[in-house]
Amino acid sequence: MTFHSADADTVEEALAVQEKLDSDAATAMAMEETLLSPRFYTTDFNEMDAINVEPVRADWDNLISRMLSDPNKGHFKKNEDWDHVDWDQMDPILRKEFIDFLVSSCTSEFSGCVLYKEMKRRGNNKDITQLFQLMARDEARHAGFINDALREAGVAVNLGFLTQKKKYTYFRPKFIYYATYLSEKIGYARYITIYRHLERHPELRFHPIFKWFKEWCNDEFSHGEAFALLMKTDPKLTSGINVYWIKFFLTAVYATMFVRDHQRPAFHKALNIDPSEYGQEVFAKTSELSRQIFPITLDIDNPRWMKNLEKMHQANLDLAEATNRSGLSAVVSRLAARFNAGVAFLSLMTIPAKSNTVPASTRLEPVY
Ligand SMILES: [Fe+2]
Ligand SMILES: [Fe+2]
Repeated sequence: MTFHSADADTVEEALAVQEKLDSDAATAMAMEETLLSPRFYTTDFNEMDAINVEPVRADWDNLISRMLSDPNKGHFKKNEDWDHVDWDQMDPILRKEFIDFLVSSCTSEFSGCVLYKEMKRRGNNKDITQLFQLMARDEARHAGFINDALREAGVAVNLGFLTQKKKYTYFRPKFIYYATYLSEKIGYARYITIYRHLERHPELRFHPIFKWFKEWCNDEFSHGEAFALLMKTDPKLTSGINVYWIKFFLTAVYATMFVRDHQRPAFHKALNIDPSEYGQEVFAKTSELSRQIFPITLDIDNPRWMKNLEKMHQANLDLAEATNRSGLSAVVSRLAARFNAGVAFLSLMTIPAKSNTVPASTRLEPVY
């Protein structure tokens, strides 16, 4: 029996298994640098290493011991529940969009893995390095599992190549907390919403990977809990001017998801999911969860909310269309599309937020 990344105890083991496997076309997609594509991040690791988790010690120890018990060890690999996938029979547009979805998900998972692994490598603070080691382990398994699915379609992301060649964006630690916390919680909300939908409509499950989403999103849920605790150690992170940053990250993360999902109409049609309704459901869940730590939530029921998300989506379509053309009119169209997207984003940012009283303990359970 060959050793699988799902059984790995550490991130190093999991990546070594994956690295032996391939180098391929999907890597080029994962290398793409657009505003919407998943990025790789780097930060001030010394500042993060200096975090003192004593103010949240009881919840911290609880969370770490749950992660150490490793309930999902061995889960992220194909077994008898993995139905045969006929990639050749799949509608070509659906196939293209689904591969795009898998590559983009794999890149996001791996982006988390690289950041967490680096933090573990550079740190000396035992609490912090232990947490990041555990989270990197999970993300390596997730990325490895998506790559297993991609390999069946004849493509896979070369993770080793990405680590070396993809551009790294520097974010200050506090921005890493906001962005990563949100991406973990929205990841949970996305996966559980699709999982519950397909539980009700198994006939729509056109690929077996969706069966794994429940345990998957529980990992993401724990990762989000960890970032909530990290932010809880320093009240300044969620007050004063930082509330504006939180609003910015909430708006940017939600808007990015909305625009990106609307790029995959065939994928959502196959699942019988309306991407706008799905978006609102995921935003509502994420907002409810983020009340554990953020002093505001976005007013997603404000009439300007959906109107401007639609405008951003349209601007993105216009931009894509103009990118395929050349000449002066295409340049003008591109500028106009970027301008429209910027105006719509500003309009979203200026919708008054709803204030929220943050509870004494951040602790939550995955209830959806
Ligand atoms: Fe993950
Ligand atoms: Fe995660």
